[in-house]
Amino acid sequence: MTDSPSPLAWTAAVILAAGHGKRMKSALPKVLHGVAGRPLIHYPVRAALEAGCGEVVVVVGHGRAEVEAYLARAFGDRVRTAVQTEQRGTGDAARAGLSAVSEAAEVALVFYGDVPLLVAEDLVQVSRALATAPAGVGLAMATCEVPDPSGYGRILRDARGAIREVREHKDLKTEEERRTREINPGIFAARVDVLREAIAALEPNNAQKELYLTDIVAYGAGRGRGTIGVPGRAEILVGVNDRQQLVDAEAMMHARIARKWSHAGATVKPGARIDDEVVLEEDVVIEAGAVLRGATTVERGASIDVGCVITSSSIGAGVAVKPYSVVTGSRVLGGAQVGPFSHLRPESVIGEAAHVGNFVETKKTTLGRGAKANHLAYLGDGVIGDDANVGAGTIFCNYDGFQKHTTTIGAGAFIGSDSQLVAPVTVGAGAYVATGTTVTRDVPDDALAIARTRQENKLGYASKLRARFKAAKETTKGK
Ligand code: UD1
Ligand code: CA
Repeated sequence: MTDSPSPLAWTAAVILAAGHGKRMKSALPKVLHGVAGRPLIHYPVRAALEAGCGEVVVVVGHGRAEVEAYLARAFGDRVRTAVQTEQRGTGDAARAGLSAVSEAAEVALVFYGDVPLLVAEDLVQVSRALATAPAGVGLAMATCEVPDPSGYGRILRDARGAIREVREHKDLKTEEERRTREINPGIFAARVDVLREAIAALEPNNAQKELYLTDIVAYGAGRGRGTIGVPGRAEILVGVNDRQQLVDAEAMMHARIARKWSHAGATVKPGARIDDEVVLEEDVVIEAGAVLRGATTVERGASIDVGCVITSSSIGAGVAVKPYSVVTGSRVLGGAQVGPFSHLRPESVIGEAAHVGNFVETKKTTLGRGAKANHLAYLGDGVIGDDANVGAGTIFCNYDGFQKHTTTIGAGAFIGSDSQLVAPVTVGAGAYVATGTTVTRDVPDDALAIARTRQENKLGYASKLRARFKAAKETTKGK
């Protein structure tokens, strides 16, 4: 790094993520459940890195291989893992994490991996509180007041208001303790040696027969080392233990992302859901019910209308994606119009100022600048030239049951409605395909292709036909 070293350069983050997450009732490890397009664990790890922690250790156990694979993919060597072989409680997990912390680390910041809303600032505040604490303080921890404290560890203070103990919900003894609304959201900072000593002394004397990290508070208090509390926002404490909390945390994350882009000059209507990786430029409008996922970018002045689902795609400047369109793994270039009800499947490229209208499906197809396919078409594996016009009901017959083939349409060509193009086939520049034609051979530039049976008109025959049908109907009735 070229910048001056961060104040947390000698701090090691130890993130606890080895638990079963039993309350999720899931085959997937809890910390891999998605929140706004990323696994839960992504957010606390990112917070630690953004806070400038000199090292980041994630304690893994349950679903270890999958969690490690994700961390390696997302963060590379900026994150290490430590293994907790048996899930014997948060204190045991912290011990496993500390054993992987380097000699160089002076301070450890221990926190839980199931808190997706946590941000760097929350960690910095607790670290700073420890760094600036008066002598006699051995531990800094976040605290929070919540309306409904059930399930959380309560912070118990002595008569002088000093933190004495964190007691888990299941271990509370009196009504008064149960009424305590100050809880432990789960961020602790201490000198590494102090922490090692406290953790080594933990015992499973509790309702769950586990080693509780939270018991380090009482341990310190018993040895004249106080704990300083850092009041935090209730938001940080949205720990995810079950599906409902997962959904609630994601809703808060989506609200946070919408606010971020509003500040950056985009309008994000209520009910739109924008995932964490998405990037919006100025003057973008995202309507209610639109869902933007994956590494999607929306450039200046583009609008995404009601009910669209855009995944891992780039939407160019000034593009209008009209209601209920689905765009996946595709690029829509500047000024193009898509929808309503278009389906752009992976590797589609919609050229500048091109139009794709209702019930048009594309897959691996490129439309040139100004090209149009306005209604009801399947355009798979195609290359469509600039300003070409593809009529309603056109189908690129790209698949023979074994292989996919390409349809190529030259610039300025006109494909009449209800045509089938049997690939591989090429229609030349400026060529004209008559309505209802099945194109099986290449069409030269500027040629007219027409393939349909000639029409015959039988004069006066309609009334004869009606008389015949009427008579037939009456005979049937008599029977
Ligand atoms: C914990 C706290 C509680 C606090 C609450 C805040 C303890 C004993 N309790 O309870 O005071 O109010 O979080 O959300 O610390 N983990 C491991 N190994 C284990 C057990 C847990 O790595 O053996 C990890 C989990 O993966 C999870 C985190 O530690 O990310 C917290 O564990 P969890 O079981 O969710 O603790 P809570 O019951 O929520
Ligand atoms: Ca939890």
